[in-house]
Amino acid sequence: MSNLEQTLSIIKPDAVERNLSNEIKKEFIKNDFQILKEKKIQISKIEAEEFYKIHQTKPFYNDLCDYLSSGPIIVMVLEKNSAVSENRKLMGATDPNKAEPGTLRKKYGISIDKNSVHGSDSVENAKIEIDFFFKN
Ligand code: CMP
Repeated sequence: MSNLEQTLSIIKPDAVERNLSNEIKKEFIKNDFQILKEKKIQISKIEAEEFYKIHQTKPFYNDLCDYLSSGPIIVMVLEKNSAVSENRKLMGATDPNKAEPGTLRKKYGISIDKNSVHGSDSVENAKIEIDFFFKN
């Protein structure tokens, strides 16, 4: 049975800065994700605060928003069967030190903050996050 979903992926400033974007995009393609939309942008701190508002009560919220707005990022809409969970599997645990071998965060992440990629955590949030970046 097909369960085609879309999810939002972000290649974060640490990975863009180290010129890892093409390598990471190839990983998505190799894992049968279709990149339906993509753009390279830099967002303001206010936009980062809006994007990450579900984390606003967390102690790391301010640093997180500073970081996401600190340099260019690549935002993408990925499509695949069960795209949300498949992307989370491919990314690995939030903390690269705890991520499984072969996952993107294990391969490319530097720390829990500079963990190279973001992916939506639910189908509901994927819709909100895709709209956030790609609604005209
Ligand atoms: P991301 O999937 O983009 O969602 C929120 C981000 O907060 C997460 O990746 C991490 O980069 C960052 N973060 C920083 N500290 C923590 C923490 N203690 N727990 C979870 N996420 C954290």
